[in-house]
Amino acid sequence: MLLLRLLLASTVTFCFSTFAYGASLLAGDEVQALRDIAKTMGKKDWDFSVDPCSGQSGWTTPYPVKGLENAVTCDCTFFNGTECHVISIVLKAQNLPGKLPPDLGRFPYLQEIDLTRNYLNGSIPPEWGSTKLVNISLIGNRLTGSIPGELANITTLKSFTVEYNQLSGILPSELGNMSSIERLLLSSNYFTGELPSSFANLTTLTDFRISDNQFSGKIPNYIQNWTNLDKLVIQASGLNGPIPTGIAVLGELTDLRISDLNGSEAAFPLLNDLTKLKKLILRSCNIVGQLPIFLGTMTSLKTLDLSFNKLSGAIPDRLSGLQKTDYIYLTGNLLTGAVPLWMLNKGDQIDLSYNNFTVETSGQPECQKRSVNLFASSSMRNTSGVVSCLRSIRCPKNLYNLHINCGGKEVTLDGSATYNDDTNDVGSSSFFQSSHNWAFSSTGDFLDDDRPTKTYIWKNSSRLSMNNPELYMDARLSPLSLTYYAFCLGSGNYTVNLHFAEIMFTDDKTYSSLGRRIFDVYIQGKRVLKDFDIVKVAGGIGKAVKQNFTAVVTGNTIEIRFYWAGKGTTGIPYRGVYGPLISAIAVDPDFIPPPEDESGGISIGVVVGIVAAGAFVILLILAILWWKGCLSQKNTMEQDLRGLDLQTGKFTLRQIKAATNNFDAANKIGEGGFGPVYKGLLADGTVIAVKQLSAKSKQGNREFVNEIGMISALQHPHLVKLYGCCIEGNQLLLGQKNIGCNWIGQ
Ligand SMILES: *[C@@H]1O[C@H](CO)[C@@H](O)[C@H](O)[C@H]1NC(C)=O
Ligand SMILES: *[C@@H]1O[C@H](CO)[C@@H](O)[C@H](O)[C@H]1NC(C)=O
Ligand SMILES: *[C@@H]1O[C@H](CO)[C@@H](O)[C@H](O)[C@H]1NC(C)=O
Ligand SMILES: *[C@@H]1O[C@H](CO)[C@@H](O)[C@H](O)[C@H]1NC(C)=O
Ligand SMILES: *[C@@H]1O[C@H](CO)[C@@H](O)[C@H](O)[C@H]1NC(C)=O
Ligand SMILES: *[C@@H]1O[C@H](CO)[C@@H](O)[C@H](O)[C@H]1NC(C)=O
Ligand SMILES: *[C@@H]1O[C@H](CO)[C@@H](O)[C@H](O)[C@H]1NC(C)=O
Ligand SMILES: *[C@@H]1O[C@H](CO)[C@@H](O)[C@H](O)[C@H]1NC(C)=O
Ligand SMILES: *[C@@H]1O[C@H](CO)[C@@H](O)[C@H](O)[C@H]1NC(C)=O
Ligand SMILES: *[C@@H]1O[C@H](CO)[C@@H](O)[C@H](O)[C@H]1NC(C)=O
Repeated sequence: MLLLRLLLASTVTFCFSTFAYGASLLAGDEVQALRDIAKTMGKKDWDFSVDPCSGQSGWTTPYPVKGLENAVTCDCTFFNGTECHVISIVLKAQNLPGKLPPDLGRFPYLQEIDLTRNYLNGSIPPEWGSTKLVNISLIGNRLTGSIPGELANITTLKSFTVEYNQLSGILPSELGNMSSIERLLLSSNYFTGELPSSFANLTTLTDFRISDNQFSGKIPNYIQNWTNLDKLVIQASGLNGPIPTGIAVLGELTDLRISDLNGSEAAFPLLNDLTKLKKLILRSCNIVGQLPIFLGTMTSLKTLDLSFNKLSGAIPDRLSGLQKTDYIYLTGNLLTGAVPLWMLNKGDQIDLSYNNFTVETSGQPECQKRSVNLFASSSMRNTSGVVSCLRSIRCPKNLYNLHINCGGKEVTLDGSATYNDDTNDVGSSSFFQSSHNWAFSSTGDFLDDDRPTKTYIWKNSSRLSMNNPELYMDARLSPLSLTYYAFCLGSGNYTVNLHFAEIMFTDDKTYSSLGRRIFDVYIQGKRVLKDFDIVKVAGGIGKAVKQNFTAVVTGNTIEIRFYWAGKGTTGIPYRGVYGPLISAIAVDPDFIPPPEDESGGISIGVVVGIVAAGAFVILLILAILWWKGCLSQKNTMEQDLRGLDLQTGKFTLRQIKAATNNFDAANKIGEGGFGPVYKGLLADGTVIAVKQLSAKSKQGNREFVNEIGMISALQHPHLVKLYGCCIEGNQLLLGQKNIGCNWIGQ
């Protein structure tokens, strides 16, 4: 048989050498192996009527949709280009519903199997131990069971990635024998036990990630032997601190993320030699003491997250070396002293909230300065004392409830409360104060973000069928920490209702349904939900769940904090999907609010009242402006006249009408430049001349005023003396004693 094929092959070569590549064929047993694994995995669209190595008819998808990849790659250099062997099978994001095929050994030249983001279940076959695989990627499936020790027999294995699955058990110590391993990515599984001591041998490692697992014991100090390490990610792994001192020698690290360590307090690890670091995350690691000055020399740093530790003391001057760092999070420490100017100039790229800085304020302290989040930076100092930035929020009266449609528009539920609009899409670090009695402080940027829109507010992508879907259609997200803060609340016990519904995963049999979102919730500083998983508690994706708690309000405020403690998947359905999600918040009193305070300060009635009052005030102002505008000429003139400080009297129009016999034509004695002049007789017998300004041009009025000023000031025998004037309605009249021709002729 073999002889026959060899013969055939050489014949073909001999006869058709010029067509060598076109005529090349995948070895027959590998074709059958492909048929078998297709069946096992549930791959239905392979077309076996063409040569699998031809790259045609769906054996390689030429223009892959984002994420989706589909390729069987062959090496056709065998027998001078007459025989092919499969070297790589990449089937990404295809929702394959089957199991992992145990018989990969039937592809003797296979180097790569990549089944990232499918819907495969079952366990990892120990048979794979007999392959010559270089890359194994099983990210984002439903795999269970433990990692078989046989995999250590694959001496060629460089990359083994099984993140976002449901694998469990202890890591077999045989894995310490993997002599070529570079990437070992085990995050988001249920692994337990300690890291095997044999792992000290894995000196070829460049990328090691074990976040979101249930390991026990300490982070081993032997990681110092992994001197080629480029990326080390240990977030919420279950391992305890402190961070081993040996980390100091890993000078090749560019990305170091350790978070949510349970363990004793420890000083900041010595990282002076890690000058290549681009990302440094040491969040919630129980680090005490001061910020080390060597941080200032890490000029490659793009992200620095030291939030939620116990760092104290002032910010060292040398830290100004980090002025070009994209994101700096110092949230939730005990830092004191002044905030350096360069930090205040970083805007929403730095978060300083929840610290103990001294921020000099001239007037009212602000919760954000130059858009730097300084909320609850605790000791804001004004000239006479230490004040909180929230002091600047005035409470004209107590309010007794709070409703927020987190991430969504204002919505009024039938016969019930109005949930406030919360559609402000924030930056990586921000403080936002709403027009109602609440504000929020948001910290963090989504790391490795492949989401189609980079946003902190997510909208549902499929129909929601719960009651009041308006509350759940939009939700606010947080990559790290999000605090809603309500103020002006009257004292007493309140019920806090938190509404959740998962809207980023999909409720179907695809990899998009395999995400796990896990976070913690704190109310009034106390953790009320740990490892909260919306989907688990609600009983499915797209289903609503309400969690209620009692909050005791004594100081007018309620603080509700959502915190990502490093758990859950971070790459399903795409990278950047993790952290808290909140749909709506309702806070209602457990008591009947006192009558003098309006219960439901933001109820419909009050809102309508406020709107009506506002509208009335605006109308009133407009009316006044309109009225003033109409009479402004007179007003101006009267003011002008008053400004003249005249020695003249004022007549009423009625007096002048009486004196001139209602401007009788018989009394008309001439026509001046601005109008007719009448002779008149006042009640006291004084004879006067009355000049009437007929045309009411602006210039006329001005002249009129000037004339009065001039005449009243003049005292000359040949000139008439101004006796008085009258401005009434549209009548402008000057009354003069004696009739002088000089004047009339003007
Ligand atoms: C491959 O081709 C070369 C010359 O082109 C020949 O010398 C050699 O024998 C061939 N090998 C096989 C296995 O056909
Ligand atoms: C293994 O994966 C790496 C990273 O994706 C890639 O660069 C490399 O070419 C792969 N090796 C093989 C043999 O497929
Ligand atoms: C794998 O999933 C299929 C349905 O997709 C189910 O019938 C089967 O029992 C599962 N197997 C394991 C080992 O979970
Ligand atoms: C593969 O590994 C297992 C256990 O790790 C070992 O017992 C076995 O001898 C190995 N097989 C080969 C072929 O090396
Ligand atoms: C790991 O490093 C320690 C100390 O540097 C050394 O004693 C030990 O032999 C190393 N182990 C391996 C497997 O290289
Ligand atoms: C933290 O570790 C201590 C022992 O080191 C253990 O008692 C405690 O339960 C751990 N806490 C958590 C939250 O894992
Ligand atoms: C914060 O600073 C103030 C004054 O600077 C000090 O009195 C207070 O004890 C500090 N609080 C903490 C928790 O360090
Ligand atoms: C400064 O703080 C004190 C104490 O809270 C307060 O009484 C005072 O009004 C504040 N002064 C200014 C100018 O804000
Ligand atoms: C979101 O949910 C609402 C309520 O079920 C629905 O009307 C709307 O069409 C959904 N949005 C999308 C994009 O499917
Ligand atoms: C308020 O709640 C606290 C804690 O739940 C409770 O101890 C207290 O009795 C409550 N007060 C009232 C007035 O109900």
